[in-house]
Amino acid sequence: MSNAAHTPTILVIDDDAEVRYSLGRVLSSKSYRVIEAGSGEEGVATVKKGPPPDLIFLDIRMGGMSGLEALQHIRSANPKQMVILMTAFGTAQTAIEAMKFGAFDYIMKPFDPAKVLTLAENALKAHNDLRSAGDYKPTINSEDYKEGIVGSSPVMQDVFKTIGQVTASDVTVMITGESGTGKELIARSIWKHSHRASKPFIAVNCAAIPDNLIESELFGHEKGSFTGATGQRIGKFELCDRGTIFLDEIGDMALNTQTKILRVLQQGEIQRVGGTETIKVDVRIIAATNKDLEEMVKAKTFREDLYYRLNVVRIKMPPLRERPEDIPQIIDFCLQNLVKQKKARVGKVSPEAMSVLSKHRWPGNVRELENVIYRSAVIAQGDAILLKDIPVEIREAVGGPTTAVSGGGTAQPFDASAGGLPANGASAAPFASAAGTAPAIGGGYSVESALDYLHVELSGGSEPILKRLETEMIVRVLKATDGNLVKASERLGMTRATLRKRIDELQLSV
Ligand SMILES: Nc1ncnc2c1ncn2[C@@H]1O[C@H](COP(=O)(O)OP(=O)(O)OP(=O)(O)O)[C@@H](O)[C@H]1O
Ligand SMILES: [Mg+2]
Repeated sequence: MSNAAHTPTILVIDDDAEVRYSLGRVLSSKSYRVIEAGSGEEGVATVKKGPPPDLIFLDIRMGGMSGLEALQHIRSANPKQMVILMTAFGTAQTAIEAMKFGAFDYIMKPFDPAKVLTLAENALKAHNDLRSAGDYKPTINSEDYKEGIVGSSPVMQDVFKTIGQVTASDVTVMITGESGTGKELIARSIWKHSHRASKPFIAVNCAAIPDNLIESELFGHEKGSFTGATGQRIGKFELCDRGTIFLDEIGDMALNTQTKILRVLQQGEIQRVGGTETIKVDVRIIAATNKDLEEMVKAKTFREDLYYRLNVVRIKMPPLRERPEDIPQIIDFCLQNLVKQKKARVGKVSPEAMSVLSKHRWPGNVRELENVIYRSAVIAQGDAILLKDIPVEIREAVGGPTTAVSGGGTAQPFDASAGGLPANGASAAPFASAAGTAPAIGGGYSVESALDYLHVELSGGSEPILKRLETEMIVRVLKATDGNLVKASERLGMTRATLRKRIDELQLSV
């Protein structure tokens, strides 16, 4: 292992002697040890012979073996090798390929010396981080995660014990806690361990169903009982007979519906909307809310009698910030799941990244943490999540180092501030980087990771992915070409007529 006195070795591979010389001068000014190779073949041989350099600058266009070929040889010999590709021609394709084959970054000639140095520094830091990430070892194997709920903090251990206690009977359970703390997960776990496990579990989100429809949803209705009731409908309670019903967001339930729930609890019976028949149902109720029901009872917006009926056993889900010791385990659990689902191949987290993740306040609790891990994992280039992979808004919220990196002269694929990606009020895109600095390859977000990120973000949207991308790209290209239709249509690869049509459809002013 290296120590503080270690002088990083940087290998420059380029068939142009002048480039090797000038890059060598810039890098030696920071007392890096620079070695050179005049061709792809020679460079690959140097790496294979070892010891491997800490960083490689590699030219893409060379006689003989191309830079991209060399990159593949180098990365297969040493998957963790940090490589920065250089080119005089910035095309989307080479940039995408470069990152796809595992380059750390991609930079355009002619170089700005200051940028070269920042880039080298960042790559060397990532190199070190990746090495130290090897020190973090998950303490738990996947067997222990079979339950699907993790947490070794005393508060969570208490929650688990309570689950064990309420599974033998049909007692009503009320689960409270902030959004994303795992209320539904706990409800399912109670059901899975109960004698009703072979019967249905039905979750009803009371906040998502309009007041005038919720009764029909829960209890069913008879044909013609209200406008639009064209046939008979069997409600959730009937469907769920002998099973478990999860009334989520019960604090949002209208008062008259509350009355009917009370009747189920007291008499075990329901009536379909518009019906006269009384139907016996045997359903266990688990309710959840993130509202303060005690306050609502005082304000008479929640029935007191129902409150006491529901609140026989109360499970209070602690917010994640009150149990930071659970964070590493939850992260580990998420990563194992992502690997299992083949969504990512990252298994570790660097200590620095872990420290930021442990310090964040997580207003969205476990759901937010899960989401951030997913986003970071698809962006990570090595086998570990590094600080730079964590969305900038999290790094800034924690107030730690944000490693604001600017990739030298590279393409700026996405400027989220211009077009408003992503939609749906999703959290800020990581590409809208700090202080308006242009997001660049090497700012932690490569083209490939940008695409991965967009894939994730846009998959959740209502609009088809390509449609959305097309719109965003048209807007950007038009801006970049000052509304020049000839140039814009060329760049976009669509005919002018099509572009004009799209502009009209989108009602853009050019
Ligand atoms: N202790 C935990 N271990 C593993 N995963 C968890 C844990 N707690 C929550 N999760 C995960 O976090 C996400 C949110 O959990 P869940 O939907 O149960 O939260 P919730 O409290 O119902 O949130 P909301 O109030 O927003 O509906 C889910 O993907 C769940 O699997
Ligand atoms: Mg929920």
